[in-house]
Amino acid sequence: MAGGPSSLCCCWGAQLPLLVGRGLLVVPPTQARSLRFVTLLYRHGDRSPVKAYPKDPYQEGEWPQGFGQLTKEGMLQHWELGQALRLRYQGFLNASYHREEVFVRSTDFDRTLMSAEANLAGLFPVEGAQSFNPNITWQPIPVHTVPEAQDKGPTVTAHRSS
Ligand SMILES: *[C@@H]1O[C@H](CO)[C@@H](O)[C@H](O)[C@H]1NC(C)=O
Ligand SMILES: *[C@@H]1O[C@H](CO)[C@@H](O)[C@H](O)[C@H]1NC(C)=O
Repeated sequence: MAGGPSSLCCCWGAQLPLLVGRGLLVVPPTQARSLRFVTLLYRHGDRSPVKAYPKDPYQEGEWPQGFGQLTKEGMLQHWELGQALRLRYQGFLNASYHREEVFVRSTDFDRTLMSAEANLAGLFPVEGAQSFNPNITWQPIPVHTVPEAQDKGPTVTAHRSS
């Protein structure tokens, strides 16, 4: 995607990241290996178009939040991905949110920040002790970012031959 503000990054580890690479490198092949750390890189969910084509009957005002925004379908996709990750890493990632276990980083775009939030809602469905309001099955979990101009992260950008 051109101009690609499309990546999110999510890291989990029961241990510090520095220990992980080393651990994996020096473990002899005969010794049982165990999962220490997970890095996930994912894109935003479904979004509205980023621009209209010439004579497009659907101009920006036709989309609930305008161009380039996460749609409800995109929110659902990420919530479902969070749920799938919850199942996949059951036993590795605690069922409740622990700030020292998870770090989430997003590019500074509405659609990627919102994707990360939807994903976290699926990943950490709120549990009794962490619930702050029994009427809301959600809890706030931090999503870190930096301004686009300072972002040296792994942005996914399509290369165009000119
Ligand atoms: C998850 O966290 C709770 C504390 O909130 C702790 O009692 C429990 O042992 C943890 N479970 C795992 C699998 O680490
Ligand atoms: C939860 O919803 C009920 C019913 O609307 C309301 O009476 C109660 O005050 C709400 N609780 C909180 C903590 O918002």
